[in-house]
Amino acid sequence: MFECSKCGYQYPKWQGRCNECGNWGLIEVEETSKIPTGSKKNQEIKSKVSDLIDLSTVISSDLKRVKTNINEVDLVFGGGIVPGSLVLLAGQPGIGKSTLVMQIASKINEDFVLYVSGEETKEQIKSRLDRLDYNSNNIKFTGDIVVENIIATIEKNLPKLVIIDSIQTIYSKEIDNSLGSVNQIKACTSKILEVSKRLNISVIIIGHITKDGNIGGPKMLEHMVDVVLYFESQKYKNFRILRSAKNRFGNTNEVGIFEMNENGLKEVINPMEIFMDKDNQEKGNITTCIQEGTRPFLIEVQALISKTAFGYPKRTASGFSMNRLELIIAVLTKKLGLELFNFDIYINVVGGVNPKDTGIDLAICSAIISAYLNKEISNNVCIFGEVGLSGEVRSVSNMDARIKEINKMGFSKIIIPKTKLNKDEKNDRIIEIKNIKELLDILNKI
Ligand code: TYD
Ligand code: MG
Repeated sequence: MFECSKCGYQYPKWQGRCNECGNWGLIEVEETSKIPTGSKKNQEIKSKVSDLIDLSTVISSDLKRVKTNINEVDLVFGGGIVPGSLVLLAGQPGIGKSTLVMQIASKINEDFVLYVSGEETKEQIKSRLDRLDYNSNNIKFTGDIVVENIIATIEKNLPKLVIIDSIQTIYSKEIDNSLGSVNQIKACTSKILEVSKRLNISVIIIGHITKDGNIGGPKMLEHMVDVVLYFESQKYKNFRILRSAKNRFGNTNEVGIFEMNENGLKEVINPMEIFMDKDNQEKGNITTCIQEGTRPFLIEVQALISKTAFGYPKRTASGFSMNRLELIIAVLTKKLGLELFNFDIYINVVGGVNPKDTGIDLAICSAIISAYLNKEISNNVCIFGEVGLSGEVRSVSNMDARIKEINKMGFSKIIIPKTKLNKDEKNDRIIEIKNIKELLDILNKI
């Protein structure tokens, strides 16, 4: 087998360019023999029948989670860190991963957290903890970057939580490949995984991903770990989003929001302040409510429309899928007769959340209509719902929770799909619609 030394993608024969990460000249013969598999090739291997356990007799233990005592982090973990779980925290260099884990380490009340760093010295780490006024009483440090030594240290001292900062800076003596290579990363992770499961100790592994989103190293670890968290930044502001992409013990797509300032990371209690600008009332701006994980969010979407100068009209979307935008434009053109083929259309989802929730569709439609008609829609209106190909407006998940959130924020009108609502949520501010024709009528009136 051949393998890309950057992203780990495998090929049956050699080629110049990696199809996965697009890099040239990095595909090499995979040296599988160097990965210790634990099998004893030359000895006689005797098989033994495994013990069978009748699952009905097993008592399911309530997973006793370790609280990080940071609400946003606990939320993303699904209520705290499960003992014995292996967590991958991935993000670009400089995004704030070390700051986040230091904050977690200082807030955990249990004895004790082992902080392994191949990136910073003990003095650097201590001075950062002191500067941020973080408690370092239950944090122990080692700068040892040999994975075998780290494991021996864990076995002897039995910490509650281990933090490895980062997986790219530790190495195994049993592997010849250089520090940070695919084989090293894989081997170190599988060794850490083994000790974590054997001793029921949670481990957070930090993995760097590159700026262009090329998640070379850490990506291939996703299947090995229990929880994958991405730490991402906002484009223009100092906001950071902690997102769970995989969680064996909780909900995925859960997000936690932080602000990075000179005093480290601060939890953002009311995310609406970031994603919306209530004073900025403009044509083409619409407030919507999306659901990320278990949490409804209010965000603002913007559309800008300008006459196409020549030829093919341009469509650009930031924080929204291009395919979905094309679909919405086609529906608006066909069902409402808007002459969008003569216009360039730009869509922006404020705050760079990049929601996967289709509940945003109706707001995108409204933003385009508002920009097209050159008509301001009051920012006291909140709109959400999914739009289908025949222009029908479909209901989305967790309608009640979304409406509750919108009501809390004091909007005067809520435009939503026709649905069976809880009695408590019903009020005269709610306008239910069945298709985008009705949407156009209502937008024309308000
Ligand atoms: P860091 O946690 O070291 O990033 P990572 O471990 O992901 O590489 O954070 C580094 C950046 O965060 C650095 O550019 C400065 C900024 N920062 C602040 O703005 N305020 C702070 O209090 C700290 C600690 C860092
Ligand atoms: Mg760091």
